Parts: sequence; structure tokens; C-alpha cells
Amino acid sequence: MIESSKVHKILYGGDYNPEQWPKEIWQEDMRMFQIAHIDVVTLNVFSWAALQPDEVTYDFSKLDEIMEYVRKNGLKVCFATSTAAHPAWMARKYPDILRVEKTGMKRKFGSRHNSCPNSPTYREYSVALAEQLARRYKDYDNIVAWHISNEYGGECYCENCEKAFRVWLRKKYGTIDELNRAWNTSFWGHTLYDWDDVVVPDMRSEEFEWDGIRTNFQGISLDYRRFNSDSMLECYCMERDAVRKYTPDIPVTTNLMGFYKTLDYQKWEKEMDFVSWDSYPPYGAEPEHNAMAHDLMRGLKGGKPFALMEQTPSVSNWHAYCALKRPGVMRLLSYQAVAHGADTVMFFQMRRSIGACEKYHGAVIDHVGNENTRVFREIAALGGELSNLGDTLLGGRTPAKAAIVFDWDNWWATELSAGPSNLIDYYDEVYQYYKALQNLHIPVDFIGIEDDLAPYALVLAPMLYMCKDGYDGKIRAYVKAGGTFLTSYFSGYVEEHDLVVTGGYPGRLRDILGIWVEESDAVPEGDEGIRHTFRYEGETYPAEILCDLLHTEGAETLAVYDNDFYAGMPVLTRNSFGSGCAYYVAARSSQTFYRKLLQKITGELHIQPPAKQERPEADDGGFVEMTLRENQNGSFLFLLNHGDAAECVTLEQGGRNLLDGSEYRAGETVALDPKGAAILCLS
Ligand code: GLA
Ligand code: ZN
Repeated sequence: MIESSKVHKILYGGDYNPEQWPKEIWQEDMRMFQIAHIDVVTLNVFSWAALQPDEVTYDFSKLDEIMEYVRKNGLKVCFATSTAAHPAWMARKYPDILRVEKTGMKRKFGSRHNSCPNSPTYREYSVALAEQLARRYKDYDNIVAWHISNEYGGECYCENCEKAFRVWLRKKYGTIDELNRAWNTSFWGHTLYDWDDVVVPDMRSEEFEWDGIRTNFQGISLDYRRFNSDSMLECYCMERDAVRKYTPDIPVTTNLMGFYKTLDYQKWEKEMDFVSWDSYPPYGAEPEHNAMAHDLMRGLKGGKPFALMEQTPSVSNWHAYCALKRPGVMRLLSYQAVAHGADTVMFFQMRRSIGACEKYHGAVIDHVGNENTRVFREIAALGGELSNLGDTLLGGRTPAKAAIVFDWDNWWATELSAGPSNLIDYYDEVYQYYKALQNLHIPVDFIGIEDDLAPYALVLAPMLYMCKDGYDGKIRAYVKAGGTFLTSYFSGYVEEHDLVVTGGYPGRLRDILGIWVEESDAVPEGDEGIRHTFRYEGETYPAEILCDLLHTEGAETLAVYDNDFYAGMPVLTRNSFGSGCAYYVAARSSQTFYRKLLQKITGELHIQPPAKQERPEADDGGFVEMTLRENQNGSFLFLLNHGDAAECVTLEQGGRNLLDGSEYRAGETVALDPKGAAILCLS
């Protein structure tokens, strides 16, 4: 489906459920798919109940017909294994398959994502079904990918999980003494004597504090999150191995969900042939959020293209107010995905269902059932454009010089401790820096802590609270060799078990940053008391959330606090270290500050935006997103106008707009309509 010999264009289509419709409708679907240039359908996502009506019976008759029909009509298939919702008979007969909530409540049959990942029943039957499907349909050469399960997620706290957790811990720690050390159980006399003393960190064990998030023993909760993510990953791997036995050449994926906290996608990626994900930006959300999720997904596989597996053509049903995607927005967001690395554009779903919770979710074919809708016309027009683009953009990589480090363990750990502030928010901290770079039009790669830093001139690791064993060494070597590094408050505190690294904050990063953080002052939300500020290059900026009180140990001070008892203490520092340097931002500030700081840093590093928006202060006007993809066919500049007004962009380099054929010379201006897009093939 991605980088496959069977694919010669950006695949266009999505989730298709013909089994929910009478056959007369299928023909009509095909007619409309043709008008819309649809060439791929994701089949069989939720069909377990039909495929296996009881323990010993499989019934593939309908699926056989669908597979034949779809092949006859020239469609490619993204083939799902149907294991994201188990059949009712299974729950009735084998209650071990039902999850237990964090509250200790055992679930009954219902909903989806409802199977315990450590249930022997679930594992046995899901793998058996995957295997049956692969064996039966292996010769369909229009299958372009396996889609295992659907949006893995959630958690389980049942007895099977408890037992499996003990096994997982034993493998990780070897001895109970080592476990006690890692979890610091001598605190409150929680020392465990035996592996059987380990219980799952649910509400019954009172591991969770008053708000259901902060915990008493972070090591336990951290390991439970790791374990839960690993458990689901094991389920995925077992199905993957089952289908691979029969179809070793069909790539395998599962649809991820961007910044989905529960699963450590940096571990999942290793088991996936390509990354795919479902993008559902809420109406009115800043477009940079969605851009950041795309970049995270692209970063999982070191910059390789990913599949946009789902998006809504018009509306999602699960918001309180299901606002429509305005005219042009579906197209714009589709190109946003492609701009950030997607090689497919796919929807949920092809035909709007008539019952249950998604009957008011947008679809390619609406309840009216014909092509005379705004949404369908927009879909068909985009389909035409994607057909014209052919294979031009496929496989393109983003030549980013700046990278942001993101780490799931760190995400979990930053929120588990009580203190220093409820406003600590790793995602949001990262977003501040990302957004500023986006508004400076600087392409960014997302990297994990296993990734190489050397390809980047600038590496940002905001709020690197957990600095795992060896990661400081990696940063040290990078900066010594000439790299520029930046981190912010609440960094370097703990090692991988969330145990504090003693000897002064920011722990292992102290020498690289050339500072010592002695104390940190949390600033309450909406505090009417002292407003903390600092001056930087002639302007005053806020200092919020956490204000570090730090001493320089070799770093130069670029800005100091204006007020409170720490007035005059450094808030922004820069340390020359080896041939490179390391910046420290000691508090949360504003977008204007981040943009100013990052403009300066990127300017010094000669990291240039690929083009110039006429209005530099993007906050005052619309946001034009710019990014690059490069492949053997050339270098492509994407210009995406998310604003409600027309915008102009001045080109550094000439090129031809692939979407309308117009030619531009260097220095000329591209005019973008509201919600307009251009893809310039640079000359
Ligand atoms: C998810 C699921 C789909 C559908 C959509 C609705 O992405 O994978 O099955 O429920 O949400 O937005
Ligand atoms: Zn369980």
C-alpha cells in the first residue's frame, strides 16, 4: 500500500461495509466510486460476528462475494482482520475475554475495543480468524495491505492481566529485590516479598490518587502502561505472524491514532511494515495540532511515508456539536496529510450507515444515496486531482534540519507524580515549540530517543523530564560535535523508573546545559498575584506554569526574571559545549517569545524557510503551512492556506503548481484562496 509495486498513485478510498447493505446497492456504490476516482476500499473491519457465528463454524460466503465483486470492479483492498470487536457468543461462553475497568468493574458484552489483550480466548480466536482469512484470500493480488484489528486502545485490569503483569515484571527485573528498588517500595513500607504481592494499579489498589491520574507509586503505573501497550502489541504481532505465513509479501499495518497516549507507538512501529493512522482534528482546532500528529506519525519510521487510513469527508459524529468541514477543508486537510508524508488519502466511511452510533458520521455517499451533494462533489474533484498527480509525489521524504524529541515513557511519567504542578503538560509544551517552528515555516521531524541526532542542526527536547540511561550521553556527543540542543523546565529529573537522579537538577543534563536548577516555583492558573515576566531583546514575555530558580555553571544568561524574590535570576540560558551549544528555557512563555527565540536560533544555523508568507505575523492573519517533500521526481513545496482570507507567498525558487499547471519564477508570488492549496514542483 505504501512503497509497493502494486501502487502507482496516491490511493484514494476508505472503510467500506457492503455487508451492511443489500446487493442492489453495491452496483450503485461502484458507479459512484468511479465518478470519485476511488481505487481502494478497506474491507472487513467489524465482521467477526458474521464470519464466525459460533465456536466451530466459519462462514465466509458473503465475504467471498464481496471480495469477488470488488476485484471485478478493479478496486484494491486494504484487508482488515475484524478482531476489534468480539462476537456475542464468545463473551457469553468465555467471560475472560471481557475487560475489567480501572474502577474494578467487569464489563459485559458491548461496544468495541472490548477484549482483554491477555485473554487466552481472545488470543486464540483472533489469531485463528486472521489465519483463516489469509489462507482463504491469499491469492487475491488486489490486496495491498493487511489492516490488523482496528485502532488498538484502552486498558484492562483483569486477573489475567494481573498474572501476565507479574510474568512481564519478572522478565524485566529478574528478582523481587530489583523490583522493590525500581519502584522505591520502601516508601510507606510497601516492600513486596513475592511476585504474587504485585497487584494491578487500579482504583481498588488505591494506586491512583484523588484525580485518577496522579499515583502513589509512579514506577508501578509506569510499568503497567508499558505492560498494557506491550500486551496489545503482542496481540497485533500474533495476528501479523498468522497472516504473514500465507502472504509474506503483503505489508501489514494497524491504524494508529496520532498522539494516542495509551500505546507507545515508537515500540509498535518496529512491528509494522508501514505506519497508518486516522486523523480526526476537532472542528476549529489549530491546524498545527494536526500537522504535528502527521509529523509524529511520519517520524515513527524515520521519515518514511505513511498511510492516511481514515478521515471524515465532512463531519464526525462524536463531538457535542458536529460542525461540518467547510467547503475546501476536506481537500486542504487531505493535502496537509500528503504534505507531511501521507501516500494515501482515505475516509471513514464510504457509505453512511442507517443505524447505530455512526449514522450521523460523514461518508462519501450520504443517506440521500446519490452524487448530488456538496461533499460528494468535493470528493470527486479531489479524486480527479489525485489521479492527475499519479505517482509524482509517492515516496517523498521531508528534508528537515530541525527535530523534536518525543518519548511516550516521558509523556506518562510527566503526569503520574503529584507535583510540582497540575499544569505540567508534556504534549502542550512540545506543541508550543512545534507551533512556533511551523509559523516560521520550518519543516520539523519528530524523533524518538533511539533515533540518531546527527542529521539535525537543531534538536529540541522540551520537558525531557525522564532522561533515560545513556540518553544524556547521546545529547552530550551531539552537542560536542557541533549540534544545537534546547530543552525547557522540568527536564532531567528522573531516570527510566521515575526515580530522581540526585546531585541537582537537571540531573544528567546539568553539564551540557551549564546550569543548576535549585528550586522550581509553580505558578497557579489565573493567579491574581505576581505576574512573572522577563525581558528578552527589548520585549517583555510571560513566565508561567513552572519558574525554575537556576544558577549558571558556565552557561551565559540571555534573560532574567523581572519580579518576585527571584528577580534577576536567569530564565533563558545558552551554554557553549564542545563545538555546539545548549539552550535552556526555564519557564513556559508565549508563542511570540518562542517564535522570536526560534527565529534567532534557526537564523544562526542557516535553517531557512522554503518560501515567505507576505504577512510575517501569522497570528494576526491566516496560517499558511509550508513544507517540503523530495523524491526521485523532484522537490515539492506544499503551500496550504488554513485561513479564511486569501494569502500570498513569495517563492525563493521557481516552480510549477501541480494542481493547476501555473508556472512561477523565483521571487514571484503565489496567491492562495482561503483554504487553498498549491504543490509546487521546484525547478
Ligand atoms: C475511528 C474508527 C472507525 C470509525 C471512526 C469514526 O477512526 O476506526 O471505525 O469509528 O473512528 O470517526
Ligand atoms: Zn485483562
